[in-house]
Amino acid sequence: MARGAVNKALAARLAALEEERDARVLVEEAVDVTLPYDRVPAGARHPLTTLMERVADVFVAMGYEVAEGPEVEAEWFNFDALNFVPDHPARQMQDTFFVQGADGARNDESGVVLRTHTSPVQARALLDREPPVYVVCPGRVYRTDELDATHTPVFHQIELLAVDEGLTMADLKGTLDHMVQALFGEGMKTRLRPNYFPFTEPSAEMDMVCYVCRGESVGNPDRPCRTCGSEGWIELGGCGMVNPKVLTACGVDPAKYSGFAFGFGIERMLMFRHNVEDMRDMVEGDVRFTRPFGMEI
Ligand code: DAH
Repeated sequence: MARGAVNKALAARLAALEEERDARVLVEEAVDVTLPYDRVPAGARHPLTTLMERVADVFVAMGYEVAEGPEVEAEWFNFDALNFVPDHPARQMQDTFFVQGADGARNDESGVVLRTHTSPVQARALLDREPPVYVVCPGRVYRTDELDATHTPVFHQIELLAVDEGLTMADLKGTLDHMVQALFGEGMKTRLRPNYFPFTEPSAEMDMVCYVCRGESVGNPDRPCRTCGSEGWIELGGCGMVNPKVLTACGVDPAKYSGFAFGFGIERMLMFRHNVEDMRDMVEGDVRFTRPFGMEI
C-alpha cells in the first residue's frame, strides 16, 4: 500500500517536472527563423562587371550582338584602321603601353600595344561579318595613367557600332536616348556637342541630363547639385558617324553603307550612378566595397 502511494507520487512529480522542463526548453531554445543568417556572408559580383553587363543587355535586347577583341592588340587595329595616321597628334593623346614596337621590323608591320580603347573591336567586327553589323563591345582597356581618385591605368569601356544602309545621326541620337532611359529612368535624354575623333565624322561628345537634379540646379544657387556640379548635364563619352575611311579600311563600301558608333568608360558611369568618390575603391578588392552592390546578375 505504502509503496504504491510512493510510486504514484513519484510518477506524478516526474510528469510535472518533465512538463515544466519541456515548456522551458520550448521558450529557451526557440529558434527565430526570421533572423538574418550571416555566418557565411553572401558573395558579391564586382559592380563594374554588373554595370557593364547591364549596359550590354540594353543593346542585346535591341538585337545587338556582343563582340569582344584581344586586350593585347595590334597597333593597326588600335590606331591605323581607325584613321589615326602615323604622325597624327591623336596618337599622342592616348598614352599607350607599347608591348612591342614596330621598329626593326618592316615599315608596314604593326607594333603591339595594350589597347587604349574598345574602338579596335569595331574594326574586328566589320572584318569578321558582312553588314548589317550591330555590335556592343564591352572590355578592359589600358593607358599609362597613375592610379588616383579619378584615374586608373586599367579601366573598362563599352563601345557600340551599327553599320547598315541608310543610318543617320538621328538613329545615333535615338539609340543614345533609349540607352539613358533604360539605365537611368524615364524622361532622360542626351545632347551632342561637336568634337573630333579620327574614326568618326562628324564626331560629338555626348552628355546626359543629370539624373539627380534633372537640370534644376542650373542657375539655382538654392539647389546646388553635387552630381553634375550644377551643370545640369553629365558627360558620358564620345560618338559620331563612322568615318568612311574606317569603313573602307575594313572592306565595307561607304557608298552603300553608313554607321554610327559611340564609346564610354564604365568606371566613370559607376562613379556618378552610385556616388563612388574614389576609383581606387574599385580596384582594391575590398569586399566591404562590393558587398552593398549585392549579387544582382
Ligand atoms: N574611343 C574613344 C576614347 O576612348 C571613345 C569614342 C569616341 C568611341 C567616339 C567611339 C566614338 O565609338 O565614336 O576616348
